[in-house]
Amino acid sequence: MPYGTVQADAGLTKPITTLTLRKMKEEGVKFATVALYDAPMAAMAQKCGVEVLLIGDSLGMTVLGYDSTIPVTMEQMIYHVEAVKRGNNKSLIMGDLPFMTYATPEQAMVNATRIMQAGAQMVKIEGGEWLAPTVQMLSDRGVPVCAHLGLTPQSVNKLGGFRVQGRSDAQAEQILADAKALDDAGADLLVLECVPSALAKRITESVSMPTIGIGAGTDTDAQVLVINDILGLTEQPPKFSKNFLIEAGDIPGAMRKYVNDVKTGVFPSKEHIFV
Ligand code: KIV
Repeated sequence: MPYGTVQADAGLTKPITTLTLRKMKEEGVKFATVALYDAPMAAMAQKCGVEVLLIGDSLGMTVLGYDSTIPVTMEQMIYHVEAVKRGNNKSLIMGDLPFMTYATPEQAMVNATRIMQAGAQMVKIEGGEWLAPTVQMLSDRGVPVCAHLGLTPQSVNKLGGFRVQGRSDAQAEQILADAKALDDAGADLLVLECVPSALAKRITESVSMPTIGIGAGTDTDAQVLVINDILGLTEQPPKFSKNFLIEAGDIPGAMRKYVNDVKTGVFPSKEHIFV
């Protein structure tokens, strides 16, 4: 029972904070994150011991039927953050700032305020070193920040598609430098999406903040999956995802199995990772 935060059947027994997650990293205890969007799923996540909930702008694709995250608005994010918050009072709740709502530090401050006042305890933003002043500004003013590197879906048009990032030496060095700059600026978490496992390992060992992988191998401090993928609702699931409902048989069972497999290092396995 790591830190008394998870109890069989009762789920999370204490609120998860940034300090809990840093301590887990220090002690090599993995934590689970799920991207989800509504109160009933958020309540179930608390019972199943999911430490971190992400109200991701992936909701544009998983809930609203868009073909990218770009159309997602602040109002949509706030609506879903409020719903998730009503269902869960123990997991750490982070909300995405959507496309072009943090293009300047001042804009980030205004929009982070709205997401935090809707119930989030952390905001997530996509991008590298250029965001360091924004991270510093938010962090200095009491807003925890999760950075997001590798495949950053809001930049899908610039990246030329949803593709693995960091395969060339130059790209890998850039992502590592970005991670260090964001860590130094005060970021509290880092999502690494679709990067080679060896690069994710290097970054995880080089930064003080915990890393959360999605398609980033087994060596990150945590994993994140989208609830639709966990429950097999995605028509063409990405390579890094897994349908836990098939083995578990019911929805709470699928969430518990995901949490357990992350913590024991069973998930992700070879077929889910990139080299
Ligand atoms: O929007 C989202 O759900 C995300 C995760 C896939 C990391 O950014």
